[in-house]
Amino acid sequence: MIGEPRRPLIAGNWKMNLDETAAAALIGPLVEASMAHPRVRVGVAPSFPMLRVALDRAAGSPLVIGAQNAHSEDAGAFTGEVSAAMLRSMGIGFVIVGHSERRLLCGETDGVVGTKVAAVLRNQMTPLVCVGETESERNDGTTLRVVERQIRAALGQVDATDAKALAIAYEPVWAIGTGRVPTLEQVVEVHTSVRQEIARILGDRAGADVPILYGGSVNDKNAPEILGLPDVDGALVGGASLHAGRFRSIVEAASDLPNRSRAC
Ligand code: PGA
Repeated sequence: MIGEPRRPLIAGNWKMNLDETAAAALIGPLVEASMAHPRVRVGVAPSFPMLRVALDRAAGSPLVIGAQNAHSEDAGAFTGEVSAAMLRSMGIGFVIVGHSERRLLCGETDGVVGTKVAAVLRNQMTPLVCVGETESERNDGTTLRVVERQIRAALGQVDATDAKALAIAYEPVWAIGTGRVPTLEQVVEVHTSVRQEIARILGDRAGADVPILYGGSVNDKNAPEILGLPDVDGALVGGASLHAGRFRSIVEAASDLPNRSRAC
């Protein structure tokens, strides 16, 4: 599990990058960052073949190793797939579910995302559920409607008692890997709406406690401003997580935040 109310969460998403040597080399600095900043929960999601080396190098440290995807079934005839049960057996702590690259490039529907969230929870890990609008949806003024629909589908099979294991990432599709970020007002508007939707589905307590991260072109420069926003509980970081120094600066920015008083 990786989500904890009020404790900032910084998670790296390495996507399909880094070979075994490079992955092994980058884990060390992340372990150090996680140890140097105990106020921050630090995680990283390498690609599947690098999970073993990442787990071995992170052993005994607070760095949480996550996966970038999981199948909704625990086992069976699904060639090329990896189940949440397998990941759990290795010691994986969280699984990114519903990333826009999987929704758009691999055809993952809202329904598929919902079954994957259930599988990750069933296997006692944190689903880090990604939601976010495309550029045309933003331009059409349907952002809040799209994000609410994605949240409803993702949480459709979630029980209120599972809420403490959940984490959400708001990632506008047009901000991912582009260097463009929404205005701070836009981030706050969507995070507030996500929190209200969680409360409607899982109750007020969950609405207050579920960590909501921002993702999309977060870097060492913009992190302090974004992480300082109300209702932003951390960041899901792609490109900048491939650079030890930049990722460490983002963890430092999260560590420097004043204590949150939202949840009690
Ligand atoms: P980015 O990616 O930080 O490179 O924009 C974020 C993500 O896809 O999670």
